[in-house]
Amino acid sequence: MEKTIDESLQGSILTLKENKKNDRKLYIESYGCQMNFSDSEIVASILAKEGFNTTQNLEDADLVLVNTCSIREKAELTVRKRLEKFNAIKRHRPHLKVGVLGCMAERLKSQLLEEEKIVDMVVGPDAYKDLPNLVQEIDEGRNAVNVLLSKEETYGDVAPVRLNSNGVTAFVSITRGCDNMCTFCVVPFTRGRERSRDPQSIIGEVNDLWNKGFREITLLGQNVDSYLWYGGGLKKGFDKATDMQKATSVTFAQLLELVALAQPKMRIRFSTSNPQDLTLDVIHTMAKHKNICKHIHLPVQSGSNRILKEMNRLHTREEYFELIDNIKKIIPDCGISQDMIIGFPTETEEDHKDTLSLMEYVKYDFGYMFSYSERPGTMAARKLEDDVPEEIKKRRLSEVIALQRAHCQERTQGNIGQVQEVLIEGASKKSDAHWMGRNSHNTVAVFPKENYKVGEFVNVKMLHCTSATLIGEAVGYSENN
Ligand code: SAH
Ligand code: F3S
Repeated sequence: MEKTIDESLQGSILTLKENKKNDRKLYIESYGCQMNFSDSEIVASILAKEGFNTTQNLEDADLVLVNTCSIREKAELTVRKRLEKFNAIKRHRPHLKVGVLGCMAERLKSQLLEEEKIVDMVVGPDAYKDLPNLVQEIDEGRNAVNVLLSKEETYGDVAPVRLNSNGVTAFVSITRGCDNMCTFCVVPFTRGRERSRDPQSIIGEVNDLWNKGFREITLLGQNVDSYLWYGGGLKKGFDKATDMQKATSVTFAQLLELVALAQPKMRIRFSTSNPQDLTLDVIHTMAKHKNICKHIHLPVQSGSNRILKEMNRLHTREEYFELIDNIKKIIPDCGISQDMIIGFPTETEEDHKDTLSLMEYVKYDFGYMFSYSERPGTMAARKLEDDVPEEIKKRRLSEVIALQRAHCQERTQGNIGQVQEVLIEGASKKSDAHWMGRNSHNTVAVFPKENYKVGEFVNVKMLHCTSATLIGEAVGYSENN
């Protein structure tokens, strides 16, 4: 409950259906946010055309790729450890090549080749279409680096491969990069300026997913509410767009509606919303369409106005409350979740209490809470000393987690007695006799399998719960089925 990134997925290996014509083996491991997992599907799709099949076995691989995360120091340390492991294998498989992809590649660039002698290839998040050339370079014995960030690249024309998914839920990337410059965050440096993907290619992908049996999609971006399509190019270039481009531009609320109407039975989620960009239009669009799930992931990072300002989050605590009030007014009982950073430089006990009281006000359904980790090159690292002692960060973090746990329990309990639609994603991890799925608010529910099948929408009567999981029984198919 306390981690943004799904720990069970960290280091997951992507496997695709074998193409008999391909004779080389790719092993690809991914860390970090959902965007990275989504990017690995694009990378595998590009390399499948270059003669690579995927393997789950490191010892069989000809090429090992690791898609990396830089959001906290710990994420980078994990990858460095994995590189040591790859090195050990390289000793007895000298032809094996190793490539680093993603945010660490972008942050450290060719420095990675010097620091990690075993790395042959460094590829930033906007350079995956160059992989065929880069692989040829390393085949010929040279190191290869491409860390150019792009103004246009959205990979809208690369169909990602999704063969090791559950076949029911999928992520669809709609924006890349971020322009917000929160002072703690490395993402604007590693993923570049914000650009939006062509709505037609998004809808094309959603239609294709529906035809393949997928029943829920999550529109993905660092800041989805900032989505703005005006024919391509950077978000910050919109000012210079022609009158025609401005008149025909598509906002996030409009995109959400287009997707909801394109596939009226597909469940739609989106992540992440930044409070400063989430508009009432979006909330009204959610309320209007039954197939848009009633859950908003709305990171706040701190409850203190002073800290929010230091973080360059462009809203106050009061404005955040107003937004929460509007959400609750327009969509009573909407699921709301948070990300929180504990121990940002200069955070006092008073600031920490503001965070706790903000949480009391909102009563989040769930949340992801982290100790501040200083990232080189960010504004906070340059301007502010990381001055909150480790033991104080730890204590404040445990208080925030304890409060979130209590709220999670309270919010989960609130569902008991209700009949709610659940989309079956697969067997419950704890019991093979139960299905697992989520309600509209994104709370996990389990119930006896009976004759229901994966991918079906079922009405479930919620009977009991643990702190974060509902336990119920099916009462029939939902009208969406
Ligand atoms: N775009 C999202 C956040 C993306 S990063 C937003 O609008 O907020 C995911 C989460 O990682 C952030 O919400 C933040 O809580 C956490 N995070 C980012 N940088 C961090 C740092 N330097 N130390 C600790 N946590 C951090
Ligand atoms: Fe990072 Fe803030 Fe963007 S947290 S990803 S700079 S919205």
